Amino acid sequence: MSMTSSQPSHIATGVFEVQHPLIECHMTRLRDANTPPAEVRAHVRRLATLLAYEATQDLAIKQTQVTTPLKTTTGGLLAQRVGLIPILRAGLGMVDPVLDLIPSAEVWHLGLYRDEDTARPVEYYSKLPPGRPVDVALVVDPMLATGGSMLAALQTLQAWGVSKVKLLSIIASEEGIKNVEAEFPDAQIYVCKIDPELNDAKFIVPGLGDAGDRIFNTLG
Ligand code: PRP
Repeated sequence: MSMTSSQPSHIATGVFEVQHPLIECHMTRLRDANTPPAEVRAHVRRLATLLAYEATQDLAIKQTQVTTPLKTTTGGLLAQRVGLIPILRAGLGMVDPVLDLIPSAEVWHLGLYRDEDTARPVEYYSKLPPGRPVDVALVVDPMLATGGSMLAALQTLQAWGVSKVKLLSIIASEEGIKNVEAEFPDAQIYVCKIDPELNDAKFIVPGLGDAGDRIFNTLG
């Protein structure tokens, strides 16, 4: 596994487990089984912001002129079409913070759920348009467990013709990362934490439980 916590901007591909004291704090609160849904959502938003900051360091900008109240000077604007691809449901919790950073991003939802018996992803929603793929896709899903859902999303984006894909997950398993890297060695994977294990039910351990249920308060 190629893993680094250094500045990722000069590295084309690989796995980036982002090291930051604020990530440590928000992850700890998020992992806590007693953290209520409203607070879970807030930590997911904060972690998504920190991840997106790291993952977007190599976005291209084009020079432009801007006139301040005092003078005209040189500035920069995004030169690329950025697609934000949330994997439903849990990925929805990461959309708003990333859109705040990239207001011009196009949001294309992918509906995937993991079959409880097989742990295999089942696609139930995809409305990507034919042609005109975005220049860069940011796939957001708080969890990468077996990697099956991310792989399904990557296959869909590959079929759309997207050439540059970045995966943003709050938590991942070592096994899931390896599975994604094996099939898509060119993908960039940004995570806050990589946990060592999957249990028999293919849940990340120690993990944080089921992100979708905790975000949407559907634990029952
Ligand atoms: C969870 C999670 C990922 C997927 C990860 O979603 O949000 O999408 O499982 O598992 P994998 O890496 O093994 O594919 P879930 O299927 O629980 O759906 P939900 O977001 O609707 O809760």
